Amino acid sequence: MRQLRPSTIREILKVTAQPEIISFAGGLPAPELFPVEAVRAAADEVLAQSGREALQYGPSEGFPALREWIAEEMQHRGVAVSAAEVLVTNGSQQVLDLAAKLFLNAGDVVLTENPTYLAAIQAFQTFEARFVPVPTDNKGLIPETLPELIRRHHPKFLYTIPNFQNPTGVTLAAERRSLLARIAAEHALTIIEDDPYGKLRYRGPDIPPVKHWDEAGRVLYASTFSKTVAPGLRLGWVTAPKEEFSRLLILKQASDLHTSSFDQRVAFTYLTRNDQPAHLERIRRAYGERFAMMDATLGAEMPAAYEWTHPEGGMFLWVTGPAELDGLALLERAIERQVAFVPGRDFFPAEGGSNYLRLNFSNSSPERIREGVRRLATLCRELP
Ligand SMILES: Cc1ncc(COP(=O)(O)O)c(C=O)c1O
Repeated sequence: MRQLRPSTIREILKVTAQPEIISFAGGLPAPELFPVEAVRAAADEVLAQSGREALQYGPSEGFPALREWIAEEMQHRGVAVSAAEVLVTNGSQQVLDLAAKLFLNAGDVVLTENPTYLAAIQAFQTFEARFVPVPTDNKGLIPETLPELIRRHHPKFLYTIPNFQNPTGVTLAAERRSLLARIAAEHALTIIEDDPYGKLRYRGPDIPPVKHWDEAGRVLYASTFSKTVAPGLRLGWVTAPKEEFSRLLILKQASDLHTSSFDQRVAFTYLTRNDQPAHLERIRRAYGERFAMMDATLGAEMPAAYEWTHPEGGMFLWVTGPAELDGLALLERAIERQVAFVPGRDFFPAEGGSNYLRLNFSNSSPERIREGVRRLATLCRELP
């Protein structure tokens, strides 16, 4: 426990919950796009038609019909899995915790992108992982660097977020995904592919998950309904090769017996009674507009020394400031001007990273994005 740090984001979120603050800090979806009425109708239907089953304990693997739905969905994305390979979890965050329990002893090495998802760092640090960064560029991690890293560090797994990565927004190129799967097969490398944002693409062609190329069964693939339906449901899943699946299942049982029977049934009823593609299209359109507004305002207002990524989907972009920028100090001043973001430092498992900012664009209207970026840019221009 002594090695664990509290999450800066969670601390900041307490402040940024005040309505007068324009917050680019949290990873929150747009609440106005939550399908509240449709979920209420689904909940009514579940309680009316199968209330006793929905309020009863259920199987640890998950509600069978929902597992079927997820397997079909994954088949559409080019991943050949059956419902028997789908474990429903309490958000995809639980997958990270269970995978850490399954694979890690104290001091074991995990390969990650650098920076990477803050709460994955926390999940793996809880089991005293050592982090070794994989070199990356604007097409994601560079698979050619892996054989040497594997030889030197004997990692227990590689953790990667191939689509619209959190925090950078960068997407792993298709040719790198197939190469990654091949290298994993040749070097017996386990991959944890974390894909919460894959369906939030507002520009460019879809790319299949790494799991699509995983003939050797080296990839555990995790995703979630948090960004496509609502995070409050806490519904995610993992598909894993047989042996890992059965171990994850035991760990899940020890941890919480099973994911909420009620929530799973409500989600399944909601998904099958509504036009999910149309709902996703609304989210994608809104996020695409919000990204465009953030990008255009940054372009018009930020000093020349600042650069940022141009993600084709997801909820974040990543700003690189001048080397001497102190993101945490900037945040303190930004909060005085009622705008917030997450300083990049916490996304780096090792040293460095203080001159970066993560900006979320899904959770503010275009008007507030324009105003918030103006405030932030004014502050950046005033820096010595
Ligand atoms: C990369 C990544 N993985 C996992 C999660 C966890 O999502 P959930 O537990 O809501 O499925 C998030 C949430 O922001 C994320 O960004």
